[in-house]
Amino acid sequence: MGSTGDEPIVMAGPVPFVDVVVDNAGGAVANKADPGGVLPQEDEYESIVSSLPSNPKLQLLCYQGKWLLESWVPGIIAIQRPGGGFAPRHGDVVLASLPKCGTTWLKALAFATMARRAHPPPPAAGDDDERRQRHHPLLRLNPHDCVPSMEKLFAAGLGSKMDALPSPRLMATHVHHSLLPASITDNPHCKIIYICRDPKDMIVSLWHFVRRRLPEIPFLELFESACEGRCLSSPIWDHILGYWNASKTSPETTVLFLRYEELLHDPADGVRKLARFVGQPFSPEEEEAGVVEDIVRLCSFEQMKNLEVNKAAGLSPVLQQNAYTNGSFFRKGGTGDWANHMTPEMAERLDAIVEEKLRGSGLSFRS
Ligand code: A3P
Repeated sequence: MGSTGDEPIVMAGPVPFVDVVVDNAGGAVANKADPGGVLPQEDEYESIVSSLPSNPKLQLLCYQGKWLLESWVPGIIAIQRPGGGFAPRHGDVVLASLPKCGTTWLKALAFATMARRAHPPPPAAGDDDERRQRHHPLLRLNPHDCVPSMEKLFAAGLGSKMDALPSPRLMATHVHHSLLPASITDNPHCKIIYICRDPKDMIVSLWHFVRRRLPEIPFLELFESACEGRCLSSPIWDHILGYWNASKTSPETTVLFLRYEELLHDPADGVRKLARFVGQPFSPEEEEAGVVEDIVRLCSFEQMKNLEVNKAAGLSPVLQQNAYTNGSFFRKGGTGDWANHMTPEMAERLDAIVEEKLRGSGLSFRS
């Protein structure tokens, strides 16, 4: 692209979500519920959820056979509602993942890649282009403030805020493929990028995250609930298989399936795949200028974790989740931490369950 940083800002998506929805005066998310009553009414919602199995300690409900955070469920119902919830647009890109599988990283990489014309990634240190060093949105915002999480947004009655975003829009979900509306899954103009991770590392990461709210929760409790298919976003194998099968049906067009471990091993390759998939491949000039490497560096764990905005005390106006600060999303950022929390027998048990569930799919987490 060979940008000097002096070009006029291009008003096309994606733009940082928080810049569109935050009330400048108060610094909080403009909290007006959607006109048109997209959210289920209280009595309707009660009649839907009152008979569902629940796990009050983990704040989960088993909705349509999947264990979901209960606070997401009204949002999922709203998104699923034909004609009333989510209005897809040509060029929408949905980032999908199980919690703790690299969502924050994928949000950063996808945003930096898709917004690179308006916001060129800063070059390596030592480059004298100070303007670009300072002004990238990912240097002042947490990735969750750049890319909205759909079920949280709709659950807060803020789904219509998505309409204010210029195309192409970038959004994220933790919902299973089978729970998404056909307007997303059967839409050739709406692309999905999925990231999965070794379930053992996911469970360890989830435990550390949940402990911020429930400091006393034993690791074994979360591990057991994962093995039984009853922890957050479980069954986790259903989640992974739903997107895996969809990616096999149309790998070039509708679902790009990424793995956290592969992204760690070769992030530049993942960024190039992502760019091709969203129809914005890197030009020879961009390759020559090192734009891919600039994006990888901008979104790297060390870089993001150490930004002022992501230091432990920072609290996103979009997230607003008490126990979960911006810093909660950056812990170790590697592979294999499961070995510090599971005995070999526990690891073998979870591996065997996952292997059995994935049998015949062509997907495996055994190394
Ligand atoms: P660990 O807890 O194993 O360190 P999510 O974003 O889906 O909540 O996932 C969080 C996990 O991704 C955490 O894993 C976190 O440290 C890791 N992570 C966050 N940002 C990352 C980055 N830029 N690169 C690699 N891993 C990252």
